[in-house]
Amino acid sequence: MIMPNQKIAPPSDDKRWKVVETTIRRNGSSSGALIETLHSVQEWFGYLDDEALTYVAQRLMVPLSKVYGVATFYHFFTLKPGGKHTCVVCNGTACYIKGAKKLIDSMADKYGVKPGETSKDGELSVLTARCLGSCGLAPAVVIDGDVKGNIESDELIDVLEGVINHDA
Ligand code: FES
Repeated sequence: MIMPNQKIAPPSDDKRWKVVETTIRRNGSSSGALIETLHSVQEWFGYLDDEALTYVAQRLMVPLSKVYGVATFYHFFTLKPGGKHTCVVCNGTACYIKGAKKLIDSMADKYGVKPGETSKDGELSVLTARCLGSCGLAPAVVIDGDVKGNIESDELIDVLEGVINHDA
């Protein structure tokens, strides 16, 4: 549990984080500052990765699921790796116990894509997160900004097929 005044260290000594920190201070470390902060990270780093999103969530004290939600919903944000659609699978303890691996395996079988990769046709990127902060929904995923909880492999593939074929 992160306390309001607890010091959260940036992911690295990279000086660009100092600029991001300035943005956070200017906008206040509230959930309203989320989009501004993500913009700042992307502007300086070119994309948003797992580490950066986790840091922003902790720093602004918002659930990681919300950060992934915003980052995958708006097209101006680029997640690394950057497929047309993104599925973030929570691999935290609660989700792992409730079958996150099966979800990951089902996407590997269907689309040939593992966490951290994008499918060959560029349609789907799969990422994992440590805990999306929605453990009551385990296993949870975020697909293009939508949090889906208590999801099983078949349903996940159905949802992804709908998303991918929608704009085919
Ligand atoms: S472990 Fe998956 S949401 Fe917490």
